Amino acid sequence: MSHEITLEWPGDREETFTAEPGETVLEAAARAGIRLPYDCRTGTCAECVGRVLEGRTEHRRMPRALEPGDQEENYALLCIATASEDCRIRVGSRVKTGLGGSPWG
Ligand code: FES
Repeated sequence: MSHEITLEWPGDREETFTAEPGETVLEAAARAGIRLPYDCRTGTCAECVGRVLEGRTEHRRMPRALEPGDQEENYALLCIATASEDCRIRVGSRVKTGLGGSPWG
């Protein structure tokens, strides 16, 4: 089942697109022509991190760049995150600075 994803950036920018089953948020965004930052695409760098504000995502492999507390606070690595429901996700460089225990925090 596909799901609707809305990304929101600081300020008023929002983009909504559809993620197909098994497709990561990063892949679905790219298919919709939306550029998001990424590096490793394997869940190890946190370059792609977002914060899920509504809905639910699941990581399709171990999100090594996240501490357990980060996941409890709904941070998701969008390169390996698939949507389980329609989602609203905050993105932008400031999201990464909120990660606990990170060298950016
Ligand atoms: S691009 Fe590195 S964790 Fe997603």
